[in-house]
Amino acid sequence: MAELVRFSVSLPRELASRFDQETIGRGFASRSEAVRDVMEHFLTEREWSTDETEVIGTVVIVYDHHDAELGRRLTRTQHKRPGSVVCMTHVHLDERWCMEVIVLRGRALDLREIADHLVGARGVRHGKLVCASLTDPEKAPA
Ligand code: NI
Repeated sequence: MAELVRFSVSLPRELASRFDQETIGRGFASRSEAVRDVMEHFLTEREWSTDETEVIGTVVIVYDHHDAELGRRLTRTQHKRPGSVVCMTHVHLDERWCMEVIVLRGRALDLREIADHLVGARGVRHGKLVCASLTDPEKAPA
């Protein structure tokens, strides 16, 4: 068996409680097992996105439009790689929150970098990149 490490994590009680409710007793034997599973998923998702595979993807972000600096940063990030941005849609959710859906196309590692800049910006409440490979599986080497 692989060597195990223990570490402690600080997080809001409400988040821990929601996580436990969604995992323990629903196929996960313990919180440790659930966290291991989440970490594996996270790493798998990131590993494939560090190569030069041609992919199409969307980044969805929900952010506070009162933060002017954030708006400028989001625009700047997209202008830095105009060839990767196919199109975007902006939805005004309410007086405070906006959602932006940005369609990207290019190398997986470039899309990951753009998405990290967008999702990681202060003031972004939710953000996620979803990608699909454009490589034809029938033409890919075995
Ligand atoms: Ni808006």
